[in-house]
Amino acid sequence: MVVSRRARIPLPTATETLPVPASSPFDPRAPLLRSERCLLGIPSVEGAEAVLDYYLRNREHLEPWEPARPTAFYSPAFWEAHLRHNFEDFRQGTSFRAVVTLQEEPGRVVGAANLSNIARGVFLSCHLGYSFDGVAGGQGLATEAVGRLVQHAFEGLGLHRVQAAYIPENVRSERLLTRLGFEREGLAEQYLFIGGAWRDHVLTARRAPGSVRPILP
Ligand SMILES: CC(C)(COP(=O)(O)OP(=O)(O)OC[C@H]1O[C@@H](n2cnc3c(N)ncnc32)[C@H](O)[C@@H]1OP(=O)(O)O)[C@@H](O)C(=O)NCCC(=O)NCCS
Repeated sequence: MVVSRRARIPLPTATETLPVPASSPFDPRAPLLRSERCLLGIPSVEGAEAVLDYYLRNREHLEPWEPARPTAFYSPAFWEAHLRHNFEDFRQGTSFRAVVTLQEEPGRVVGAANLSNIARGVFLSCHLGYSFDGVAGGQGLATEAVGRLVQHAFEGLGLHRVQAAYIPENVRSERLLTRLGFEREGLAEQYLFIGGAWRDHVLTARRAPGSVRPILP
């Protein structure tokens, strides 16, 4: 299947940020985003346990599509340190790496959705990454949450372009990007080191709906 050039569903229009639920892993100093069924936000250091729990529950599900993880990745100490860096990156405007919960169960992480390598100047672009709980798949939750994040990239962060890449065999990822109106731009050979080897990736991107002008010095 090929990422369609004609599918361009509208992104959700809500731009609200919300108070953080007490039991949730979200850092109250960062914006909290809401889609129809999900909440997305930057996790706090106190949320390390909930984030780790997500990766432990989904270890086998994510393994074929993510970088090979060292043993330390599955420890609270790793996540406490990583989430400290993650918040610092958010504060400096170089990333917006969020976790996702359901609104009805804000204490349990069911996904991750990331904008990273945010570049400004004449580029105004970033890379999109995501994963979702294996048992919560097939309900449109990932499409909904990632769509909300892409909206934030354009409306909240003022970016012009969001780029995403997937391994050609990753049909679920391809379908998600197609639903969100991402367009295929080419094939990059040996693009990312995934599962212990350099893997070819299909490159896709979506541009902001309106015309964005960079602010230059
Ligand atoms: C990529 C990934 C997030 C996609 O998950 P997903 O469950 O296919 O995506 P969604 O939650 O959006 O569900 C979409 C499915 O739900 C269906 N669906 C059911 N109810 C729906 C609703 N209310 N709204 C939209 N879709 C709905 C859709 O038809 C679609 O099914 P289809 O693809 O068979 O047509 C997931 O497979 C994953 O985490 N993979 C491992 C990590 C990974 O690959 N990351 C990306 C690396 S590039």
